[in-house]
Parts: sequence; structure tokens; C-alpha cells
Amino acid sequence: MSTVVTFDEFGGPEKLRVDDEHVADPGPGQVRVANRVVGVNPADLKRLSGAFGGKVPAVLGFEAAGVVDAVGPDVADLAPGDDVLWNGTGAQRALSVVSVEQVRRRPASVPAELAAVLPVAAATAFSALVQADVSEGDVVLLHGASGGVGTAAVQIAQALGARVVGTASEPNHDYLRDLGATPVAYGSGLVDAVRALPDGLGEVDVVIDLVGTDETIAATLDLLHGRTTSDDGAPRAVTITGGETSSAAGITDKTDARGALDEVLALAEAGRLRVPVQTFPLAEAADALRLVAGGHVRGKVVLTVD
Ligand SMILES: NC(=O)c1ccc[n+]([C@@H]2O[C@H](COP(=O)([O-])OP(=O)(O)OC[C@H]3O[C@@H](n4cnc5c(N)ncnc54)[C@H](OP(=O)(O)O)[C@@H]3O)[C@@H](O)[C@H]2O)c1
Repeated sequence: MSTVVTFDEFGGPEKLRVDDEHVADPGPGQVRVANRVVGVNPADLKRLSGAFGGKVPAVLGFEAAGVVDAVGPDVADLAPGDDVLWNGTGAQRALSVVSVEQVRRRPASVPAELAAVLPVAAATAFSALVQADVSEGDVVLLHGASGGVGTAAVQIAQALGARVVGTASEPNHDYLRDLGATPVAYGSGLVDAVRALPDGLGEVDVVIDLVGTDETIAATLDLLHGRTTSDDGAPRAVTITGGETSSAAGITDKTDARGALDEVLALAEAGRLRVPVQTFPLAEAADALRLVAGGHVRGKVVLTVD
């Protein structure tokens, strides 16, 4: 038997319970992975709340890093003992059977704690920046730069040649400086504070909104006013939180992140991505989700499996 964190009805973290499950042998095209680190994301809270629909009972978790434990009859490219990461649903368990298409090899230079958070946060950051066509010399403003997606976005934007201004609360300003961004406090005064930055940083070319409040949307429009470069006259801005106010303002929604996983894995292997993580044992997934629900995580939260 193997450990799983499951829930029988929609709600909050209190609905999670730890259970045992029998995990089947992998079939054709599948491998079984012994998960070592499981990424925790705001999307887990949305799935748990019922906002994504789907059936219950269910298991949270969209990403993990671990070791191949068994391979299906026709799987030639992977073998037991291989270090891997994978992207899919139901990762909050000790053993997962997944399709080989969901799996990537984990390079030796990429720690499991980093590999486990690449499929959602880092791939989302990459997709949003590429969708906004960020390139050499751009000044990119990131709303919400110190969280999971933000931490990756600060580094990926710089890898694309941009200079980064990132919003965060004061206690996270040194953290952002250490990542190479220029920090600015969010809240009233944000627009003026950005405009007052030296060395041309106040002339923002692109905004990536990782927060999606009325305040971030208004600041985006203010700061990009007159600097719209896309053919259709829309602001050069991408949001990852969606919403009617953003789309009414002409801010584009980020589209699917799946193609970005190989790109961010390459950046991680090249040593260009680091993400600090706070760890909880798998059995304490509810506490990990409570921390994420607070909305002030620096870097990422992950679960570890013994
Ligand atoms: N569309 C997609 O594919 C996709 C993928 C991943 C995530 N998302 C969504 O994107 C959002 C961010 O995800 P995440 O994983 O980065 O979340 P996260 O790690 O929980 O973000 C926490 C960070 O947000 C910052 N923050 C909170 N309120 C802020 C505000 N008003 N202005 C600026 N920063 C603020 C906090 O900084 P301080 O502590 O300094 O306040 C903290 O560092 C979530 O809504 C998530 O659901 C969408």
C-alpha cells in the first residue's frame, strides 16, 4: 500500500485526509514514479474549492519530481532508477502511474526541489514572457514578483535580455534585488514610484500581471500608456489570472504553458533558475495549502515524500 492525500468533497484544506491506496503496475506507455517532491500551487486550492469542476473523491497536485519505480511493457526510454519530473493531475501521493509523454528526465544538476516546481510556475512564467514577446533591452514590470511564478519570471525575463522591475511588499525587496530585479512596493503610489526609477526603468515596455487586481490592471494601463507597440493597439501586457476587467482593458490572457517545460528545464540545467522552497511532509499537505492560501509565499511551497 502507498500513501495518498485525498478529499471526498469540495471545500478548503480541512477537507484533505491522508489515506492508503493500492497503486497498479504501469500499463503500455506508462511508468510508475516514486514521487520525492510535489509542487503546491494556488491552482490546488481552486481545484479543492470546486472552481475547476471535476469529480470527487480526488487527489490534488499538478507536478512532481521523483524516481522511476517501474516501467510499462513497451517503454524503452526510461528505466527503474531514472530521476524524472512530471506534469499532470493527482500528484499528492507517494506513487503515481503516468504516461511517458508527461515525464522528463531530471538532469543531475537540477535538484528535485527545483524540478518539481518547473511544470507550473516556471513554465507559466516562460509562456507569459514569450507571449509578450519580451526581448533584449525591454523593461518588464512584474506585478507579484516574489511568489512562485514571479520568482521564475524575474530570472527568465533577464535570460531573455530584459531588465526587470518587480512589485512586492517591503520584506521581499532584498529578495528581488538578489534575483536581479528592481523592487517597488505595490499599493497606492506604485505608478509614481515606477515612473521615478532611474536609468530608464520607469519607461516600462511590457507588463506581466501575476496578481490581477483592479489596482494592478489600472497601473498596467497607466504605465503602458503611449508605449503600446502591438499591431492592434492593445497594451503590451499579459495576465496569468484572467478575469473580465483584464480582458475589457485589452490585456491578453496567457495561453497554455505545456510547451514551455522543455525550455525552463534547459534554463534550470544551465544554472539560470533558482527557486527557494518551503517544505512540508506529504501528510501535512493541508498546512502547506493554508500557507499558499495566505497569498504571501516567497518562492514556492513543496511537499516531500519519505
Ligand atoms: N494561468 C496560469 O496558467 C497560472 C499558472 C500559475 C499560477 N496562476 C495564478 O497566478 C497567480 C500567482 O501565482 P503564484 O503561484 O505566483 O502565487 P503565489 O506564489 O502564491 O504568490 C504569492 C506572492 O504574491 C505576492 N502578492 C500578493 N499580493 C500582491 C499584490 N497585491 N501585488 C503584488 N504582489 C502581491 C506576494 O508578495 P508579498 O508577500 O511581498 O505581498 C507573494 O510573494 C495565482 O492567482 C495563480 O492561481 C495562473
